[in-house]
Amino acid sequence: MSETQVSEAEIAVHWREEEYFPPPASFIGQANASDPAIFDRFAEKNFPECFKEYADLLTWDKYWHTTLDTSNPPFWKWFVGGKLNASYNCVDRHLAKYRNKAAFIWVPEPESAQTLVITYQELYVRVNEFAALLRDFCGLKAGDRVTLHMPMVPELPIAMLACARLGVIHNQVFGGFSGTACGDRIADSGSNVLITIDAYYRNGDLLDHKAKAEDAIAAAKKNGAKVEKVLVWRRHPGTYSSKTPMVKGRDFFVDEVLADYRGKIVEPVSMPAEAPLFLMYTSGTTARPKGCQHSTGGYLSYVAGTSKYYQDIHPEDTYWCFADIGWITGHSYIVYGPLALAATSVMYEGVPTYPDAGRTWRIAERLGVNIFHTAPTTIRMLRKLGPDEPKKYNYHFKHMTTVGEPIEPDVWRWYYHSVGKDEAVIVDTWWQTENGGFLGSTLPALQAMKPGSCGPGVLGIYPVINDEKGKPVPAGSRAGNICIRNPWPGIFQTIYGAPERFVQIYYEKYCKDKNSKDWHDWPYFAGDGALQAEDGYFRIIGRVDDVINVAGHRLGTKELESATMTVEEIAEAAAVPVIDELRGRAVEIYVALKPGYKPSKEIEAKVAAAIENLIGKIARPKNVWIVPDMPKTRSGKIMRRVIAGISNFTGTGDITTLANPEVVEVIQHHVQAEKVERGDTPRKLTEQELEEIKAFGHAE
Ligand code: WTA
Repeated sequence: MSETQVSEAEIAVHWREEEYFPPPASFIGQANASDPAIFDRFAEKNFPECFKEYADLLTWDKYWHTTLDTSNPPFWKWFVGGKLNASYNCVDRHLAKYRNKAAFIWVPEPESAQTLVITYQELYVRVNEFAALLRDFCGLKAGDRVTLHMPMVPELPIAMLACARLGVIHNQVFGGFSGTACGDRIADSGSNVLITIDAYYRNGDLLDHKAKAEDAIAAAKKNGAKVEKVLVWRRHPGTYSSKTPMVKGRDFFVDEVLADYRGKIVEPVSMPAEAPLFLMYTSGTTARPKGCQHSTGGYLSYVAGTSKYYQDIHPEDTYWCFADIGWITGHSYIVYGPLALAATSVMYEGVPTYPDAGRTWRIAERLGVNIFHTAPTTIRMLRKLGPDEPKKYNYHFKHMTTVGEPIEPDVWRWYYHSVGKDEAVIVDTWWQTENGGFLGSTLPALQAMKPGSCGPGVLGIYPVINDEKGKPVPAGSRAGNICIRNPWPGIFQTIYGAPERFVQIYYEKYCKDKNSKDWHDWPYFAGDGALQAEDGYFRIIGRVDDVINVAGHRLGTKELESATMTVEEIAEAAAVPVIDELRGRAVEIYVALKPGYKPSKEIEAKVAAAIENLIGKIARPKNVWIVPDMPKTRSGKIMRRVIAGISNFTGTGDITTLANPEVVEVIQHHVQAEKVERGDTPRKLTEQELEEIKAFGHAE
């Protein structure tokens, strides 16, 4: 056996199987998918025609003639010959029945401010007016790209839908990203219009956001791109809340310009199914960001279908996906999927714990939210700051989602018992920016939940775990690289402007025959390590680069962190590798404590013991660092590469896009001073070791 095989087998034996939780009867009774015949409809023998069921949720101007065209692999084409408009599907077609039903309910962060309800009628008017402005004031037309750098305000989905109405490709950059990051994306996408806002509320402050537009334009210019118009929404229309001057002839207040477009109606442009709907950039640590290009027909079908069956959205539900629209989750499951189904979608401007740890549950109670969707990091934060808050509020969820990272079984149980009050079904949805919609999840009324496992492949998705050589790894054995054997309508079309990178990153590794036009020869490489249990459920270990190789044993960071989380005092944990003379790599664990606990040697020892007990001696951490908070991205992912840099004295790298850059210095000072005192400083690292540490953890 090779060393890799040994270590992968190690991972397998480390997992402890969790018990099943059956869906509550009350949920099953009302579910959109409660007849097991659905599994047969989406079985491989019915692929690709099974996806007609999703496409038929939409209104097509022209029906397609070919469900899946594989003539140019791996550039798959879905619903070829079909024509439709995404804005029409999300707005206009609901007017007859739901004109005055809420499309969005927007909750501003200041709790004294009024909640804003936008009905489908109001949304229709606002989308049309803004589309008219984009077309007539900015001269935008189908196929042009526009960059948006917006926070969680209703003007963001309005702008997206207005672009979609014209066939203009929107490129929303997460509002928390720096201006420079935005500028790079402006240049890469070739946008000459930037849509932004003067300011927004975050954690009690009105942040100056327009300032970032200046940096963005400068960065874009450096990359040879010229921004001709900057459309500036105002958080408080009529009042400019930024200190940055407006540039004459370039910058315009949207509320002023819109006055000329009041009541204007814009015919939705009928777009081919294969026309790009939007770009969403996602980046690696070393390579430049990749603009994932998503289609109109395939994408919209896929998010509508998965919203219906996996989110179980009915038009009468009040659905709150507590994510940011600046991420793929928000595009698919705040805006396009829910609106395609005429749902009421809740948006919240601010942070979950502002002004206190009960805010999230007050929103849920006040709005009567019955479907709740968020990420493990938010769940952990809410648990850390207010473990007993949910029971103080009278809300009732029928359905909850977790997305974006593996969830520790212990955290899952808190979500289920405390947040869900033992009444809600949970789906743990595994997927990626590249995928458009869910890849792995339980079908909520029909498949039992298992904490820490996303479940099997979703309807019409046939995953496989491959070893390094492309040999399938049998269920119930060991971990490997999870791949999807087949194309699906939500898969991105390409990396914008870099089709060769698209092929290379996602398909080259496991392609069986480069000349083949048969999709069976082109499995999609997801870049995640995973393990399939005997029951067919997948447990995602994390990115393939989230693995720490200790003396030839691969240890998943998530596995180490889950073990750490079993210690009562621990609220959050992150594992990183340190270069170790004897073992190659050793593990260091960073932890944040629940409120009420003080750092102590005892807690450090308990963590080390828990890891030793649950995983093995080999994983015993070299150090356990108790820190006030983890460095996190604005989307809440723990930046393991930053702490890995601290542990290895290799520098923290770029921390400008973090939510809490100030904590980095505190941690660095504490950890490195202690290490120096112990004489535990590393030798000079090799180039390769430096690369490894720099690239460690989630890409940002
Ligand atoms: C991870 C977010 C475990 C995974 C939708 C993936 C998950 C990356 C899960 C994509 C989950 C996402 N369980 N891991 N339920 N969901 N991931 O592009 O490593 O921001 O590759 O898309 O997050 O992150 P992205």
